Amino acid sequence: MPDRKPLMSGNWKMHHNHFEAIQTVQKLHYRLTRDDYRAVDVSVHPPFTDLRSIQTLIEADKMDIILGAQNCHWEDSGAFTGEVAPPMLEKLNVSYVIVGHSERRELFGETDEMVSMKVHAVLKHGMTPIMCCGETLEEREAGRAEPKVAGQIEADLAGLDAAQVGGMVIAYEPIWAIGTGKTATPDDAQAMCSLIRRLVGERFGPETASAIRVQYGGSVKPGNAAALMAQPDIDGALVGGASLDADDFAAIVQYHSA
Ligand code: PGA
Repeated sequence: MPDRKPLMSGNWKMHHNHFEAIQTVQKLHYRLTRDDYRAVDVSVHPPFTDLRSIQTLIEADKMDIILGAQNCHWEDSGAFTGEVAPPMLEKLNVSYVIVGHSERRELFGETDEMVSMKVHAVLKHGMTPIMCCGETLEEREAGRAEPKVAGQIEADLAGLDAAQVGGMVIAYEPIWAIGTGKTATPDDAQAMCSLIRRLVGERFGPETASAIRVQYGGSVKPGNAAALMAQPDIDGALVGGASLDADDFAAIVQYHSA
């Protein structure tokens, strides 16, 4: 078995001000044990305005929770009103940056080209991209789920080398499952995560394919996490709604001891 420590990530989206964020992280820290951190990595991805507060909390209390961001620009600095640059995240000791979330793609017009530039920028600053991909319901029903995801993988990993890709996280997030309460069946999620790993292998070699971590995201809850995580090619979960509540997120993180 390849040594891929699962990564359980809480994507808070546009929820929790910095006071609420502090409370949530404190509660999560209280619920998680040393055994949990031995079994899995745990990251939280609060809004930008919370990052400094959460960084300070994590470092002061020596928490094992890992700090993540939800997005960034690809340039180091410049006249880009409202954007946040990767070096700013690096300075806050951010480790993981979600890139190309379907909400960014669908609501804010992010293209594969932009996603690819962001992946490069995140890696350049020593952070790990969690690169998202996934199909709409329409695409799935038309039998176009696999080509859609394959196309995203092809375009979004352009210009990277095997060592860079091997350290990355790819999140398979079927768009129809995000925030809808509908989850891909463990078999369907496994099939797509295995396809992603195979595509990475064809392009970057078998070592890279077995090193890369593939997450599933889309209505992951305490009740379905264990079945999804039991799949051989699912190495973690990107959790939205259920990560806002520390008890629910802790229960998801603890799938391994359920
Ligand atoms: P969800 O969101 O868990 O609320 O479906 C997942 C995500 O968008 O990352």
